[in-house]
Amino acid sequence: MEDVTDTVFRELIMSVSDPGRLNLLFTEFTSVDGLCHPVGRSAVLHRLLVNETEQHLLDKLNIKLIAQIWGNDPEKFYSASKYIADEFDFDGIDINMGCPVNKVVKQNTCSALIDQPALALEIIDATIKGSGLPVSVKTRTGIKTHSTERWISQLLQSETKAVTLHARTQKMQSLYPAEWEQIAIAVRVRDTVKPDVKLIGNGDVESWEHGIQQIEESGADGAMVGRAIFSNPWFFSDTQSQKSVDEKLDLLQKHIRLFADTWQSGRNFSILKRFFKIYIHGFAGAAALRASLMESFTAEDALKVIGEFRKSEAV
Ligand SMILES: Cc1cc2nc3c(=O)[nH]c(=O)nc-3n(C[C@H](O)[C@H](O)[C@H](O)COP(=O)(O)O)c2cc1C
Repeated sequence: MEDVTDTVFRELIMSVSDPGRLNLLFTEFTSVDGLCHPVGRSAVLHRLLVNETEQHLLDKLNIKLIAQIWGNDPEKFYSASKYIADEFDFDGIDINMGCPVNKVVKQNTCSALIDQPALALEIIDATIKGSGLPVSVKTRTGIKTHSTERWISQLLQSETKAVTLHARTQKMQSLYPAEWEQIAIAVRVRDTVKPDVKLIGNGDVESWEHGIQQIEESGADGAMVGRAIFSNPWFFSDTQSQKSVDEKLDLLQKHIRLFADTWQSGRNFSILKRFFKIYIHGFAGAAALRASLMESFTAEDALKVIGEFRKSEAV
């Protein structure tokens, strides 16, 4: 997720996950135009950064890390994915054919590709040839209405290893509930056309148990989790007991320190603000602490505010 699943947050999530619960992680989506441009490259490369400490956890928990890319020119997909394979150590490449945001759709990319199957297949082919890595696609069920059968059958004409299907159309954005019946339809198409391809469902998974239930009911091979991580960074932990204030604040402090060490001034501190509510809720004084943190401009400021709160609570 853009501005969310950077190397810092992925490491944080893994640090509180138990083995076997989480199999794949994805980078933020990274533009192939940017990667292919001699100057533009430096503006997007941070999206593919993997800290050594993150790599250590990936290895320890046996989790695969996939680089996600987007664009619409097959030649650029070829060059960008070759560059990624040559310069990095990702386990695979995922192509974004799902983002519904106007800015990208206007550029004829991401979910706009749902109505351009020939181009989509060319892009997948170029990415496989360029990288030599396993390639997958993340997409939606249609543009204005569900076209699941048509679109999934077309995607399966490629050599994609997996399809992650967000159970909403482009038009639905995230404004309406995900319709997991569409995942079941996609599974049936996959079973008929290409049983070896993995089909992962996505949309509104609220908890580990809920994800398992959706997988069982739809027949999917897995579930992708997005926003639920905002309400529970311990999503992939065996123990789902209520976390103490200390546990929440410890994890937040770790997050802020890791963010500051990783990005220094390379990423705007305000990005971190969307994470505060993840840790600071459900205890006395949470709202006031959150309000004070929202006023901070640097990592040092934020750590000081938390330190003072902890001191006052200890009295
Ligand atoms: C802040 C934010 C950023 C996102 N960025 C991406 C992205 O870069 N690539 C992508 O494939 N999906 C992205 N998504 C969509 C999610 O991957 C997911 O498909 C969507 O949120 C539905 O799943 P959920 O209900 O579990 O959140 C993003 C979603 C959010 C909320």
